[in-house]
Amino acid sequence: MKPGITPTSVERSLGDQDFIVSKTDAKGRIVYANRIFIDLSGYREAELLGVQHNIIRHPDMPRSVFKLLWDHIAAGQEFIGYVKNMARDGSFYWVLATVTPDRDTRREICGYTSVRRKPRAEAIAAAAGLYREMLAAEGRVGARDAIAAGTAVLEQALNGRRYEQFILAL
Ligand SMILES: Cc1cc2nc3c(=O)[nH]c(=O)nc-3n(C[C@H](O)[C@H](O)[C@H](O)COP(=O)(O)O)c2cc1C
Repeated sequence: MKPGITPTSVERSLGDQDFIVSKTDAKGRIVYANRIFIDLSGYREAELLGVQHNIIRHPDMPRSVFKLLWDHIAAGQEFIGYVKNMARDGSFYWVLATVTPDRDTRREICGYTSVRRKPRAEAIAAAAGLYREMLAAEGRVGARDAIAAGTAVLEQALNGRRYEQFILAL
């Protein structure tokens, strides 16, 4: 999240056929963003290249979701999840994201790629409700325990199901 941006209630949405694509280096710094990413974010390409994706982080997103994302991809696994992003003008847009590791010829992780599309309205509503609860749980405890508290809310919602299965059923 860029300091100084006030989140607004203006929602933007991508078209049914749109894919937002970006690639990062192994540290998560953006090395590529497609035209839709650039246009929707409201930043210029030069402002996006070299920085972390938290430039479009929305304050409504629980920290524990990003922890889960990084745990998956750093371990070489694909991550799927709903993400609320914030554009430069404070407006927001929801995406269903997949994030996957890229590997070099020695099979070492050399970067990450994310492809995002427009979620169904019901899935956005479900994810928004869950994230509200996760964020509230994170806020009730100190920063040190926030991730554990948010993750506990998610685990309760999973109710024994696998995370991917749960997400795709939202
Ligand atoms: C390929 C890739 C794509 C990502 N896409 C997003 C994104 O669209 N929105 C977002 O907030 N974080 C995204 N992240 C996660 C960010 O790197 C970061 O963990 C998150 O914004 C939380 O930032 P913070 O830990 O500084 O609060 C992405 C990470 C990777 C590797």
